Amino acid sequence: MTDVAGKTAFITGGASGLGLATAKALAAKGTSVILADIDGAGAEAAAASLRSAGGKALGLRLDVTSEESWSEAGARARDFGPVRILFSNAGVGGGSGPFEQYDTDVWRWNYAVNAHAHLYACRTFLGDMKASGEASHLVITSSMVAIVPPPISVAYISSKYATLGIAMALRNELADSCVDISVLMPGMSATRIVETTRELRPVEVEVGKAAATSQAMQGVLAGGMSPDRIGARVVEAIEAGEYWIFTHPEWKKMAELVTQDMLASFGPSADPAYRGDDIDGLIAANGGRMFGARV
Ligand SMILES: NC(=O)c1ccc[n+]([C@@H]2O[C@H](COP(=O)([O-])OP(=O)(O)OC[C@H]3O[C@@H](n4cnc5c(N)ncnc54)[C@H](O)[C@@H]3O)[C@@H](O)[C@H]2O)c1
Repeated sequence: MTDVAGKTAFITGGASGLGLATAKALAAKGTSVILADIDGAGAEAAAASLRSAGGKALGLRLDVTSEESWSEAGARARDFGPVRILFSNAGVGGGSGPFEQYDTDVWRWNYAVNAHAHLYACRTFLGDMKASGEASHLVITSSMVAIVPPPISVAYISSKYATLGIAMALRNELADSCVDISVLMPGMSATRIVETTRELRPVEVEVGKAAATSQAMQGVLAGGMSPDRIGARVVEAIEAGEYWIFTHPEWKKMAELVTQDMLASFGPSADPAYRGDDIDGLIAANGGRMFGARV
């Protein structure tokens, strides 16, 4: 998609942070935006503010973990306009202490919001986007933690790896379609994620080390990159058809260390008699590309 003007975008987590910032950047370029959030009042207030600035915007309540909620939101969205940009972005953080004591509700909630919701998002809109034959774009929010995992919540980190995995697999699946895909990999950004996580958390508030980590994260994120800059970068990537959206290049050094550690660990075959998977043939069959992905 070379121009977002005149398109309709559906954004989850649109009431706050990176979702709202991207909505603002899209609206400024003439995109009609649907802000969907579990905070329905916040989404409606944000949409009202975009409308008063001359944009076309709709705010609605959506719980990305509920299939029923998706079906209602999908119907309202279709009345508003044909969705051609889907930003599957809502996310929550939060840990639950050492892994052997992890609360299973916190675990399931992190996966439901951060990872499983992408399936519902795509079940609601991706079919129509493909069938339209028109230039369309799916953006999925993962995180730098899915490449360089810091010592924080296992549920958050692993659900963001799952999100990156979904994007990588969809990159192949969508390669020959009219739908481009990007994966957003931000570092620290000054959003409300620590606060919204506390408000939405399904079980007890964090205690001990987990509470201290959450408190520390709030301080660190306050000094993070402006969400507005990231929103503008997302729109630029949509128009340029870029798959990876790395907003924090200072993390590249750490990504190199992680990758080098992995590559250096490739040793001899576990079975010297095995003839070897035909990786050269696979690469050649894909025209020098990574599986089906356009690179
Ligand atoms: N802030 C950062 O430093 C950072 C870094 C990397 C990745 N991210 C990712 O960016 C995305 C956006 O987060 P943010 O930092 O803008 O935080 P944010 O809290 O400001 O915004 C997230 C929004 O998602 C909404 N939300 C939460 N659960 C929901 C649900 N079940 N259904 C619908 N909406 C729900 C919240 O109400 C909130 O408005 C998340 O996926 C997050 O993991 C953030």
